[in-house]
Amino acid sequence: MNTETRYGWVSRLIHWLMALGVIAMLGLGAYIVRMEVGFSNLWLFGVHKSIGMMLFALIILRLIWHRISAPPAPMPAEAAWQDSAARIAHRSFYVLLVLIPIFGYIGSAASGLDVLLFERWKVPSVVPVSEAWEDGAFLVHSILTKLLAALVLIHIAAAIKRRDGTLRRMLLGSAEARVA
Ligand code: HEM
Ligand code: HEM
Repeated sequence: MNTETRYGWVSRLIHWLMALGVIAMLGLGAYIVRMEVGFSNLWLFGVHKSIGMMLFALIILRLIWHRISAPPAPMPAEAAWQDSAARIAHRSFYVLLVLIPIFGYIGSAASGLDVLLFERWKVPSVVPVSEAWEDGAFLVHSILTKLLAALVLIHIAAAIKRRDGTLRRMLLGSAEARVA
């Protein structure tokens, strides 16, 4: 459970799994759209889609978890604008991380190919097979991932720059160094 000042392990685990997954997916996505597609590397699309859908589940889990166990209030920053900037950035993460997989799914399903989870489970298709839908959805998917990448860089820079225990709190739970 989170408390008023501490992040519990569930929130921290989800945060770091998400961080790892998102950074890997930004790299993998950029790679698959540039590679010369052939039979030998087609499976990478499947990996991208499967991890993307897992991340979608994780972000929904995180949103639910934060309703059950509210995260600690942010540690007061040096300036009020920084507090608002952090709040906007965190909200934007949630919005982007819900929308990006949805548009990835719409584009993939509109292509007419089955969207499979780990080459096994078929995700039901709820969109028409249409080139216009496919192109439109992938365009949105692509633009939103650029915004996400920019936000990730700003977020990491802000987390490293702050020297008030904010990073420690996300890594170890508490902002305070433990007294023996
Ligand atoms: C790359 C993907 C990442 C995403 C999508 C992400 C997302 C988020 C979100 C949404 C929050 C708000 C937490 C909440 O809901 O209460 C948060 C907090 C935080 N993140 Fe990340 N994060 C990422 C990577 C990182 C990395 C690489 C670092 C460290 C260098 C980091 C450090 C932190 C810290 C220290 C907080 C706590 C902020 C606070 O308590 O005010 N994050 N992150
Ligand atoms: C957080 C999750 C995701 C991230 C961060 C992500 C990231 C990316 C990135 C960076 C690209 C390259 C975009 C470009 O430069 O044009 C891309 C392409 C792609 N993504 Fe995702 N993606 C995610 C989820 C998904 C999901 C859930 C699916 C499908 C179920 C999906 C399907 C695709 C496909 C098929 C492409 C290639 C599009 C094309 O050929 O134009 N993605 N993704």
